[in-house]
Amino acid sequence: MFVCLCHAISDKKIVQLVEQEGIYDLKGIRQLTPLGSQCGKCIRQAKVLIEQTVAAK
Ligand code: FES
Repeated sequence: MFVCLCHAISDKKIVQLVEQEGIYDLKGIRQLTPLGSQCGKCIRQAKVLIEQTVAAK
């Protein structure tokens, strides 16, 4: 499923970055991807997904 439709960034990609790249917040994801840089509608969902993934580690 795509979280960021504008840039075709999937939930799997976000989880992968959190688990493999040591990302722990939205800022980290945004340093590696353009997530949220167009319409911004994905930011809230991405934030929740990142928090859930970090908490599950
Ligand atoms: Fe992510 Fe538009 S859906 S910037």
